[in-house]
Amino acid sequence: MDGLTTGTLPDSAAVEGGELVVGGVAASTLAERFGTPLVVYCEETLLAAARAYREAAPNALLLYSVKAFPNVELLRLLAAEGYGADVSTLGELAYARAAGIPGERIVVHGNNKSDEELRAAAEAGARFVVLDALDEIERAAAAAVRSTLVRVTPGIEADTHPAIRTAHHGSKFGLPPDQALEAIRRARDAGLEVAGLHLHIGSQLLGVDAARASIDWLGAFAADCRAELGWEPEIVDLGGGLGIQYVEGERPPTIVDFVTTLLGRLGHAWALHGLEQPSVILEPGRSLVGHAGLTLYRVGVVKQATETTTFVAVDGGMSDNPRPQLYGARYEALLANRPDEEPAGSYTVCGKHCESGDVLIESVRLPEPRRGDLLAVPATGAYTLSLASNYNAVPRPAAVLVADGKARLIRRRETLDDLLALEARAT
Ligand code: LLP
Repeated sequence: MDGLTTGTLPDSAAVEGGELVVGGVAASTLAERFGTPLVVYCEETLLAAARAYREAAPNALLLYSVKAFPNVELLRLLAAEGYGADVSTLGELAYARAAGIPGERIVVHGNNKSDEELRAAAEAGARFVVLDALDEIERAAAAAVRSTLVRVTPGIEADTHPAIRTAHHGSKFGLPPDQALEAIRRARDAGLEVAGLHLHIGSQLLGVDAARASIDWLGAFAADCRAELGWEPEIVDLGGGLGIQYVEGERPPTIVDFVTTLLGRLGHAWALHGLEQPSVILEPGRSLVGHAGLTLYRVGVVKQATETTTFVAVDGGMSDNPRPQLYGARYEALLANRPDEEPAGSYTVCGKHCESGDVLIESVRLPEPRRGDLLAVPATGAYTLSLASNYNAVPRPAAVLVADGKARLIRRRETLDDLLALEARAT
């Protein structure tokens, strides 16, 4: 696997018999059995990440942020590790419930919750609804919501892509401090329980500085709450946000380092203001499932467009992974059927969609690619299938879980019949 940053591959990835094997199953077997594009999840990697969070935060309520990849089987695996779910729509709530996650371990988010969503949260017995707007208060009370947190935006610019920053001044999420105080006061007056505060500063964080600063800020804000309202948070939900390595040179903190730093800082900030130490909730998404997943594509056309650009077209693209278009996301890749061969040059991996911008990887070193090769793109477990579309009427890929030499379908491939079934047609 020459030239590939091994930090991006699932833990069980290996080369056996001259090809890439994940969870003990050869890439070619997976492609033949389930077709391509295929998102392959390694159970060992997923569980290692889940357990790292547990080790670093043994007393916290850990919630999988379902938006990273809504999937019932993954939710079941995580539930068996004691995880609950952070959901932000009726749909995500349905996935959590289908996986048997008890309401006790469900937290409901959303910057524009409908009355129906608030009622569904109450009916599911969700532990907390996170208030994100003043207009939600009366509606949450009317829906008989059990308990709430208030989401506050500290005005911190996390060092990540602007589209996935959420705690800056002017964010559409949460409430600026004065309105958050108002929300706590009004919610309590409306008879709602307000158990604590929520904060999520952004996603794909590659350092701890912004998160640390946000916790210092939150400690001072909690002290303001006590001074102004005679109320202190019993719960602090720190959201998610820890990044993963996609390409060489990125060095995100480990899960244990990130969480240990945040919890240490929380203890310190709370002690500084003489506040009662709160219970903690964490909502990781990407750092739980991102590295567990890789996508297998089949190579089709190989076309030399200029002296310097040779396109390698795969049988998917921006419909199964729009992150390059949305965030300028970068990926690595390898030929899964010839991972050990020497690179022959740099290639541009493009998809099959009708747009010139449908480029998955601008430049990657590969052995000379040929029609029929299998291209593996690591670190695609989070925010790929969940962001997938049917652009060009392309059905969305399947996902499998691999472990101990076995592969199990956890999401079937969409079919053309699935797409046509949505059409209103004269009979
Ligand atoms: N909690 C809340 C309230 C969130 O909004 C999010 C992510 C998370 C937890 C989980 O964050 P994570 O641990 O995954 O960073 N589509 C983008 C990422 C959007 C993240 C949205 N919120 C991407 O592909 O990079």
